[in-house]
Amino acid sequence: MTSPEKLVIGSDEFIPLLTEEQIQKRIKELAEQISSDYKSCLPVFIGVLNGSFLFMSDLIRYLTINCEIDFFKLSSYGDAKISSGNVKLLKELNCEVNHRDIIIVEDIVDTGLSIKYIEELFSEKSPNSMKVISLLVKPGSLKYDVKIDYIGFKIPDKFVIGYGLDFAQKYRNLRGIYVLNS
Ligand code: IMP
Ligand code: MG
Repeated sequence: MTSPEKLVIGSDEFIPLLTEEQIQKRIKELAEQISSDYKSCLPVFIGVLNGSFLFMSDLIRYLTINCEIDFFKLSSYGDAKISSGNVKLLKELNCEVNHRDIIIVEDIVDTGLSIKYIEELFSEKSPNSMKVISLLVKPGSLKYDVKIDYIGFKIPDKFVIGYGLDFAQKYRNLRGIYVLNS
């Protein structure tokens, strides 16, 4: 989908927050950092579906090291613009994570509930290491004490769409990220 100047969805207006160029430049920097941090390892990137699929595909293509991938799927938002406050595991991992170097890939950390839930899932397993990368973090809405090791952009506490992020399952295929103009 191309990059409109603004998007009107029902009574909501969304305006550009991050352009395709800004996003790609930052992902390349993150990939360089990870390639250097993991140069003697074979990390497993575990994407949290659905939102992280574009970010993860761009991130791993900028790496200069080998990697493996897997995904799991969580639900928390449904069709709403605010978190429902509970998380369900909709798809389990297929890969073996014991003794592996795991990098959890998120599109956005909002309250931190999803990351907290993932940390608890992994506390029953024995990875060699586990880090978290998120393209976006909303520091103003964090409610749980979670550590995000690699952050693309810190953004205001407002609802965003595009580049993987949805509103009621749509607009994931926008090339840039748009913010609710409120
Ligand atoms: P958390 O569990 O509250 O940190 O929320 C994390 C998940 O909620 C993310 O992985 C997204 O899927 C979704 N989410 C959080 N904020 C937004 C937003 O502004 N737009 C779209 N989805 C969001
Ligand atoms: Mg997500």
